[in-house]
Amino acid sequence: MPGGPLGGPPGGWDPGEPSGAGVRLRRMELVHSGKIRDVYADGDDILLVASDKVSVYDVVLPTLIPDKGKILTQLSLWWFDQLSGLVPNHVISGTDVPPQWAGRAIRCRRLNMLPVECIARGYLAGLGLDSYRATGTISGVPLPTGLAEGSRLPEPVFTPTTKAVVGHDEFMDFGDVEAAVGADVASELRRLTLEVYRRGAEIAAGRGVIIADTKLEFGKASDGTIVLADEVLTPDSSRFWSAAEWRPGGPQRYMDKQFVRDWSATITGWDRKPPGPEVPQDIVDATRARYIEVYERITGTRW
Ligand SMILES: Nc1ncnc2c1ncn2[C@@H]1O[C@H](COP(=O)(O)OP(=O)(O)O)[C@@H](O)[C@H]1O
Ligand SMILES: [Mg+2]
Repeated sequence: MPGGPLGGPPGGWDPGEPSGAGVRLRRMELVHSGKIRDVYADGDDILLVASDKVSVYDVVLPTLIPDKGKILTQLSLWWFDQLSGLVPNHVISGTDVPPQWAGRAIRCRRLNMLPVECIARGYLAGLGLDSYRATGTISGVPLPTGLAEGSRLPEPVFTPTTKAVVGHDEFMDFGDVEAAVGADVASELRRLTLEVYRRGAEIAAGRGVIIADTKLEFGKASDGTIVLADEVLTPDSSRFWSAAEWRPGGPQRYMDKQFVRDWSATITGWDRKPPGPEVPQDIVDATRARYIEVYERITGTRW
C-alpha cells in the first residue's frame, strides 16, 4: 500500500540513507502484521508501527482516523516514561525510526514474548462482566456478589488470558499461567501488572479519567529480566471512561472510538463481520477529536 497508513510497502523497507554517524543500509523485514500495527525487525531491534486504522467489534474498518497511530504511539511513550521506575520497558527510541514513520513508530528491544495477555481490572466491564455473571469469578478470582456493570471492584484483580493466534483469547486462572511460564514468572507478571495498573489508574484519575481495565504484554530479555513491552495504557489496550460521567449499573461512555461504535450500531444490515462500513467524515472528525482529548487530558500537554 504505497503511501498508505504505514507509508511503506509491506514486506520490507530499505532506509538506503546514511543515518547518524555511520552509514546504515539494512533492510527491515516485516515480521508481523496485526490488525492495527505492523512489526518490523531491524537487526536486534524491532519497530512497532501504528497505523491510523480503527476496529469495531474486531473488524477493521476501511476508513482511517487521521493521526490515531501517532496519538496512541506518543501516549504509549509517555506512559513508558511515567512507569519506568516500576518496571523496565522495551523502548529504545521514539525518534530513531525511518522518517516516513516518524511519530508513529517505536524502536524496541526484541524480546521473547511471554504467552499471556496480562489483564488488570479495576471495574467490571466487557468479557470480565460476562464471566462474573456466569460464574461469579474472572480468571478464577472470586468477586463479591451484587456487583453491577461498571462497578468498581474492591481491589484491582489480575485476570490473564491466553494470547490466541486464531480465535478468541480465553481466561486463564493463575495455575494456567504458572503452567505456561513457571511459578516465579507468573507471580512476577501478576505483581507487575497490578502495579502498572494501580499507578496508571492513579495518574489518570488525577486527570478525570477512569482506566477501567488494561491489557499488558511482557517479554523476557536475554538475561532473563521481565520487560514491559507492546503498547501501554492506550485506548486500544484499555477501557478509558470519563470519571465525571461514571454511573455504575449500565454501559459507560468510552473515551475512544465510542462514536464509531455507536454509529456502526445504527447501520442496519451490518452483521459485525468484514467488510466493515465506510465511516462518514463527521464521525471520523469526532473520533479524532476524542483521541486528542484523551491524549491531552492524560499527559497534560497539547497535541
Ligand atoms: N519488544 C517486543 N519484542 C517482540 N515482540 C513484541 C514486542 N513488543 C510487542 N511485541 C509483539 O508485537 C505484536 C504486535 O502486534 P499487534 O499490533 O498487537 O497485533 P495483533 O495483536 O493484532 O497480532 C504482538 O504479537 C506483540 O506480542
Ligand atoms: Mg496485540
